[in-house]
Amino acid sequence: MTESLSNKTIVIVGAGPGFGRTLALRAAAKGATVVVAARTESRVVEIAEEVRAGGGNAIAASVDATDPGSVRALRETVAGHTDAVHGLVYSAFAVPSMKPLAQTDHEQISRGIDLSVLGALRTTQEFTSLLEAGAADTGASAGAGTNEDGAGAAQDGAAPASSSVVMMASAVIHHSRERYAGYKIAKTALVALGHSLATELGPRGIRVNTVAPGYIYGETLKAYFEHLATKYGGTLEDVYAHTAEKMDLRRLPGEREIVDPVLFLLSDAASAVTGQTLTVDCGEFHT
Ligand SMILES: NC(=O)c1ccc[n+]([C@@H]2O[C@H](COP(=O)([O-])OP(=O)(O)OC[C@H]3O[C@@H](n4cnc5c(N)ncnc54)[C@H](OP(=O)(O)O)[C@@H]3O)[C@@H](O)[C@H]2O)c1
Repeated sequence: MTESLSNKTIVIVGAGPGFGRTLALRAAAKGATVVVAARTESRVVEIAEEVRAGGGNAIAASVDATDPGSVRALRETVAGHTDAVHGLVYSAFAVPSMKPLAQTDHEQISRGIDLSVLGALRTTQEFTSLLEAGAADTGASAGAGTNEDGAGAAQDGAAPASSSVVMMASAVIHHSRERYAGYKIAKTALVALGHSLATELGPRGIRVNTVAPGYIYGETLKAYFEHLATKYGGTLEDVYAHTAEKMDLRRLPGEREIVDPVLFLLSDAASAVTGQTLTVDCGEFHT
């Protein structure tokens, strides 16, 4: 169980029907106001309505993370509702080339970097002032960047003030299979971006971490496994079993098992965690 997110506003950019939706619902259930943003307006409206139907607070907004004007408009929309943001999750993703580099044109690689890396950078930069304001009003009794005693040592009591950016990478960063090259380039650069932003924004009370899921076993992955089963013969269960046998836990993480570590990083329980990459993959890789 992660701790409460009450009085926090959390912006989810790239909120899809699987991970993004589950994150929005669980963050709202822990008391956060969630801003659900992606390009498909009907979907983000639907997710926001589902959050509200469960008693939570949600704002839906459309955004194209590759368009600086659109990201600015998202920030203006959010600033119209609140003067502080406490969490930003960057999850925008499009299926990359799954071919070796020799068969991948450079334009495809550029598009992956633009969405995964520059999208995360422009979104974080656009929201930095609101995140800084969020850092100032969480754990306000302690003051930004200090413990409740004003010194550097950890003490029991209120968590030192911080806000949190979480960027969704992938355990593809650990893979050596050639067909993942384009995806690996983009997500590895995203991890490097997270490190650099952690260094740059830490003095302003903003933590930056990346989460690297192995698989997220939800509808998207099930559809892909169905496709593989049809292509190579066998059933969805066969593909699952073949994939899961490489994991220490002999299974694949579900959406909730990826969402909960993200909620931890967003919460005050992770107030000293920044510049890290958390691999969540049921033990496929030991990092
Ligand atoms: N699924 C997995 O097994 C898996 C494994 C490892 C890592 N991950 C990572 O975990 C994250 C979530 O994965 P997921 O499977 O839930 O992905 P997903 O279903 O594809 O959701 C990501 C969302 O990003 C949005 N998006 C795409 N381009 C965008 C843009 N230009 N601006 C704003 N939003 C954009 C899409 O919504 P719109 O089309 O409406 O914009 C899409 O629904 C991703 O970062 C992914 O790389 C996933």
